[in-house]
Amino acid sequence: MTVQGELISARGVGRVYTLAGELVHAVRDIDLDINEGRFVALVGRSGSGKTTLLNLLAGLDRPTTGQVLFQGKDLAHLGEKQMVDLRRHRVGFVFQSFGLLPLLSAYENVELPLRIAGIDARARATRTQEVLEMVGLARRARHRPYELSGGEQQRIAIARAVALKPAVILADEPTGELDSVNAHAIFSLFQKMVHDDRMSIVATTHDQTLLDLADEVYEMHDGQITALRGPGAGSPDDMFKPPAARAGARAG
Ligand SMILES: Nc1ncnc2c1ncn2[C@@H]1O[C@H](COP(=O)(O)OP(=O)(O)OP(=O)(O)O)[C@@H](O)[C@H]1O
Ligand SMILES: [Mg+2]
Repeated sequence: MTVQGELISARGVGRVYTLAGELVHAVRDIDLDINEGRFVALVGRSGSGKTTLLNLLAGLDRPTTGQVLFQGKDLAHLGEKQMVDLRRHRVGFVFQSFGLLPLLSAYENVELPLRIAGIDARARATRTQEVLEMVGLARRARHRPYELSGGEQQRIAIARAVALKPAVILADEPTGELDSVNAHAIFSLFQKMVHDDRMSIVATTHDQTLLDLADEVYEMHDGQITALRGPGAGSPDDMFKPPAARAGARAG
């Protein structure tokens, strides 16, 4: 059954990797609902399974167990065409490693999804300029990725992901290369997009100071997920206690 406003749902999702004969349980038995118009932050130590989970939610990877539903439809049952449509129009992804095309300028990288979607030239130019300004990089439009700093590349990757106003943006460590002022600006921008455009955003971060800007906060630990704030969470003060002290706040 689908609750209204539910965009992506993970139901008992697990992902096991096999590496040199050993099993790695990167993600275990996760239940999570990403609702429309929510800004969700995902925290957790390195190796806790954040990237793996985002890839599963985006349909970039398939769960070993359980299901990922997009607007109530199991991603495993979508055809190739529907999957392409999902990736091009509905889900924006910001990769931990940026994923910019090296031979294209910053402007062309941002414009590409609009081009692929068949947006006409004038609307494309307007929107590309607009999102470059949103991330504060209009004056770097002609630069190629290697002519940009790590933080600038990261902001271009964010501009590219938001250009088409997808229903949901999955952003993996989108502020990892940014100083605190720029990191705060990006999270504020996410907050604004969620509230103005009813977009949903799931962003992983290591930066505790950004968490106040999110509507819901989840922590991953060893492939499992706990709600720190939002549905199923304990009191907000729990966020600042070590994990052992908040065992009682574990989502059920
Ligand atoms: N392709 C793979 N093959 C085998 N094991 C993998 C693979 N990808 C990830 N893992 C393992 O799965 C676990 C979760 O990895 P994941 O990349 O999801 O962590 P993360 O929380 O994103 O970490 P970080 O904060 O460092 O980005 C890790 O133990 C990792 O070594
Ligand atoms: Mg990661």
